[in-house]
Amino acid sequence: MNYISIQDIDNLSEWVQDALKIKKNPLKNKKLGKDKTLGMLFFNPSLRTRLSTQKAALNLGMNVMVMNFTSEGWTLEFEDGAIMSQGASEHIKEAAEVVSQYCDIIAIRAFAGLIDKEKDNAEMVLAGFLKYATVPVVNMEGCTGHPLQSLADAITMEEFKTPHRPKVVLTWAPHPKALPQAVANSFVEMMQKQNADFVITHPEGYELNPEITKDSKIEYDQDKAFENADFIYAKNWSNYIEYGQITNADTNWTVTAEKMALTNNAKFMHCLPVRRNVIVTDEVIDSENSIVIQQANNRTYSAQLVLKKILKSIS
Ligand code: CP
Repeated sequence: MNYISIQDIDNLSEWVQDALKIKKNPLKNKKLGKDKTLGMLFFNPSLRTRLSTQKAALNLGMNVMVMNFTSEGWTLEFEDGAIMSQGASEHIKEAAEVVSQYCDIIAIRAFAGLIDKEKDNAEMVLAGFLKYATVPVVNMEGCTGHPLQSLADAITMEEFKTPHRPKVVLTWAPHPKALPQAVANSFVEMMQKQNADFVITHPEGYELNPEITKDSKIEYDQDKAFENADFIYAKNWSNYIEYGQITNADTNWTVTAEKMALTNNAKFMHCLPVRRNVIVTDEVIDSENSIVIQQANNRTYSAQLVLKKILKSIS
């Protein structure tokens, strides 16, 4: 069993309930991971993913090895048949097979480069490990998805669920750096599995990959989208059509108290890290409706559920 995409979840509501059970008693399966090792390979920085996944593994009694691959590992070649006379020192084939001998599960973070859409959509690093690793692989945020985050988001939304079918809004917000679409993509895929009135709002031209958004509702008027919303999920992403470019920095899209006042007393969500007073004002993120800290806490139980399922599949 691998965990690469939200599509690897067969029954989201069952997974969410299982994660909430783990949260109540996180050390219950402390023996399940005995003598098993999680190898975490980071090609990009992290705070939450690194610590929460490590904590999840420790809660399951696993050993954990962490490597910042970009600064500490050899530069990898991914092309089969490459003549490695330049740059890269090691082929993914050996690297993945070797790491598989040291680890029972390999977890990988490898962001989009945001230069070559086709290359990013091919998920070169994840796909390379999936092809050559001989143990299960977990996606800790690839080029196009962040399924551990969106599973944590689903857990958090269940904890703050409304008595009625909720209106959930994914809103684009401005950011000074070009960011990948991964978090937004997985959130959309997760919401497509929920019984909710789901709306995506962003400036025209900022459409996500239509193969992911499918028939999800898109509303270009942010104020209209916010009306009666129960959850506001803010995230920046760079332009998918003019790939990796920042073509809009309109600060009118920042989530403010005035915008939140249009909602049905909505909870505010963001995966973090967040740029205060750019994505969201201090007033909103510091309000009692902000659930970003609870969301980050649920990263542990999202990861622990995934690791538990994988450990059971290999034991
Ligand atoms: N949300 C999230 O993945 O945080 P990190 O990038 O800090 O891991």
